[in-house]
Amino acid sequence: MLLHFGSQPFLVISSSEMAAEVLRTHDQKLCSRPYSQASKRLSFDYMDAAFSPYSDHWKHMRKVLASEFLGAKRSRLYKNVMEIEMEGVVRSLTSHTSSTIVNLDDMFLSIVNEVVCKVAFGDSYSEKKFNGMTLKEIVDESLVMLGGSFSDIFPTFGPILDRLSGWNRRLETCFSHLDGFLQMVIDQHETKTSDQEKDFVDDCTSGLTTYELKALLVNVMEGALDTTAITMVWAFSEIVKNPRVMQKLQNEIRSIIGRKASLHESDVANMTYLKMVVKETLRLHPPAPFLLARECVSHCQIGGYDVLPGTRVMVSSWGIGRDPRNWKESSTEFCPERFENTPLEYFGGSSFDMIPFGGGRRGCPGYNLATSTAEFTIANLLYFFNWETPNGVKNEDLDMEEQGYPFLRRKTPLCLVPIKYNRQD
Ligand code: HEM
Repeated sequence: MLLHFGSQPFLVISSSEMAAEVLRTHDQKLCSRPYSQASKRLSFDYMDAAFSPYSDHWKHMRKVLASEFLGAKRSRLYKNVMEIEMEGVVRSLTSHTSSTIVNLDDMFLSIVNEVVCKVAFGDSYSEKKFNGMTLKEIVDESLVMLGGSFSDIFPTFGPILDRLSGWNRRLETCFSHLDGFLQMVIDQHETKTSDQEKDFVDDCTSGLTTYELKALLVNVMEGALDTTAITMVWAFSEIVKNPRVMQKLQNEIRSIIGRKASLHESDVANMTYLKMVVKETLRLHPPAPFLLARECVSHCQIGGYDVLPGTRVMVSSWGIGRDPRNWKESSTEFCPERFENTPLEYFGGSSFDMIPFGGGRRGCPGYNLATSTAEFTIANLLYFFNWETPNGVKNEDLDMEEQGYPFLRRKTPLCLVPIKYNRQD
């Protein structure tokens, strides 16, 4: 479907066949990102790997992110941090009284925040503030600003509206908070002693300019935190709403772990039903209902229609994941078994029937980190605890209303009661 917002043509894609044309057949012609005031400013003038136009610079930054943050080099630190974090969470939940209600939206976000910050910055930074704001608050504000401005759509009179409405000032404030916080992090690394384990910032300070490093750190924070936490919230919501799935999953996890006192990251490798549950969650609830916008760089044809340079392409991962033509009449049901006897990869492959991480050369490089974090966290919480809905709400009546953009969250937080599982039973 071709739409016009102001002076901008937008092509909206909502079928897997058309998605395959965009993300595979014409990937090279549709692999740039559109200009916007906020993406330019908040990526330190397109020094980053997510919003930069297609260029050698983007290729280089993506490579650095993949090898220095997401690659094998960081994975040992990541596994250690994750295991220590989960031990703390299990200890804290165990100390609750039997009727304590836990807000899982907050808990999952805090887990991801701790782990990602410790791997990137070497410290949690969750309590640290710059000008009275935490890093998470600053990143949330940056996501709001990335929603766009009048001048992105109406180049002639938009700039006047942006100035009068205070949008320009708000963008500058957001940028100075982001820049200031990250400068504080970099400055604190200069006083680090040589015996401390090296983190992402340590390893990148010599190879990148300060703006390049800051831009990549913003990509990590914007790309990893909400998306991974939202995946876990939706997975847990579906598990609790479907007691059959919860039972089957707990049987798998508990039979693989036996009576061990703690889980290791490697234990998850054989949990195939868990992987099916996470995959089914991403099909029904892709955290980003639309992929990051693409921009056409040279003429191509999609579905027989001409797509001209400058056209913005929006691909609906939400619509494609629920399309009854691919997923039959059970397309809106949560049924992990649909992935039995199919490859369990989360990204790549030949099918475009579900694309929570996009595809092609601009596809999400963080899918492995995100899914292994989700799998490990869920395995721990279902191994050590049974979970009940509070206040007499029946599991099957759990509210599943969605809201939000750019990320689709639960409308109401997921609140549950953990009951410690007695392994001697
Ligand atoms: C469940 C979690 C996640 C989801 C659902 C998700 C989803 C996405 C989507 C839909 C895109 C756009 C893909 C496209 O245009 O084809 C994307 C891009 C990106 N994601 Fe993720 N993401 C997740 C986790 C992460 C993590 C953990 C990182 C860690 C650094 C990350 C970093 C990025 C970056 C840098 C890009 C831009 C890639 C480029 O333009 O070349 N994401 N992600």
